[in-house]
Amino acid sequence: MSKRFNIHPGGSLKGVIRVPGDKSMSHRSVIFGALAEGITHVSGLLEGEDVLATIAAFRAMGVNIEGPDDGRLVVHGVGLKGLQKPQHDLDMGNSGTAMRLLSGLLCGQNFSSRLVGDKSLSERPMRRVVDPLTEMGAKISTAVGGTPPLQIDPVSGLHAIDYKMPMASAQVKSCLLLAALYAQGKTCVTEPAPTRDHTERMLRGFDYPVYSDGDRVCLEPGFHLAATDMTVPGDISSAAFFIVGASISKASRIEIINVGVNPTRTGILLVLNQMGADIELKNERVIGGEPVADLVVQSAPLHGIHIDERHVPLAIDEFPAILVAAACATGETVLSGAEELRVKESDRIAVMARGLSDIGVDVSETSDGMRVQGGQIRGGAVDSHGDHRIAMAFAMAGLVSDADIQIDDCDNVATSFPDFHSLAKSCGLHITVTDI
Ligand code: S3P
Repeated sequence: MSKRFNIHPGGSLKGVIRVPGDKSMSHRSVIFGALAEGITHVSGLLEGEDVLATIAAFRAMGVNIEGPDDGRLVVHGVGLKGLQKPQHDLDMGNSGTAMRLLSGLLCGQNFSSRLVGDKSLSERPMRRVVDPLTEMGAKISTAVGGTPPLQIDPVSGLHAIDYKMPMASAQVKSCLLLAALYAQGKTCVTEPAPTRDHTERMLRGFDYPVYSDGDRVCLEPGFHLAATDMTVPGDISSAAFFIVGASISKASRIEIINVGVNPTRTGILLVLNQMGADIELKNERVIGGEPVADLVVQSAPLHGIHIDERHVPLAIDEFPAILVAAACATGETVLSGAEELRVKESDRIAVMARGLSDIGVDVSETSDGMRVQGGQIRGGAVDSHGDHRIAMAFAMAGLVSDADIQIDDCDNVATSFPDFHSLAKSCGLHITVTDI
């Protein structure tokens, strides 16, 4: 059985809502809480399947974790040297973040481990972490083709590297910083473009020194993480669907309370503002070292743009939603420099181009992006290819389509946004879910 979203056309989005906790920060609060000395209390945690996979992995390595209960989690840290050998494979489900971050951490342990994932994760590239970890002296191997499972065996010691990342990836950066906690010497990672910096911010929140200088971040072993209390804000990547939905539909006004607006994550606001969106940030504040705001979004006529390539890594998870906005804009939108989208939970360039075309949008795919001709969305059937963000993005297209939109393979929405359907319905989307 698999979930199908049926969207009946029309409606507008109204109300004051909260979206679930930030996925990136939720993973990291479990990881650093487990490695800290003392008890970490987390609130606002995303209780999605991806984060539950991370929690299960640490439990399997002997960490006592209470919850999650209404976004609250209590992690009894075991210290950097306190993890125990898991008695079974660690199943990371759909989560590239969990697999890549844990691979760095596990290379520093004195026990073997094996990381596995679901069908989508089992097709995603892991050489991007395996190559630099191997340079650090780790023993880590992939399946043929550089994909999971990852087999990790202990080595007598890791050594620091000075690594220039070939792609803008916060997962690779974070993986190497986790390995660096166990490596002799100072590890430095240089990124080709700014990527989300939650790992750096959270390490500092746990009192671990991290040195950042422009595009370069460095870390040395020899310190310990001190348990702390973490408050996870709402996920801007989940807010993205409501931001786009309210922008494209008539007479909408939605207020999304308590959203993380770290500047390494707000590319969607830059892109949509350039397209003419009406988005206001209110009550800007800093919570637990992360910028947070309330967002007020109202309907606005959008126009097509050539998306600035420098904004791509800052909006990397939001392109399914942004491309739906582009389909509703006047004129053409061009996305380029976004080849990383091909190695997400699905090939988001191919799957979005296909899906948009299936609902009557004029698109042409390029190797590193696509061109979208804005116009009227017809409606029809779309296959999300099990990609949570693609399913939710197409759901919002139903606000302005001529006919119903039917979206297949939507179970994985639960990885990042378990209550999407009821929240979207409560603020005006005509959505029903059927099991087929
Ligand atoms: C993430 C980094 C991004 C993003 C993913 C979460 C993270 O991946 O797409 O959803 O938490 O570090 P890349 O760093 O591989 O681009």
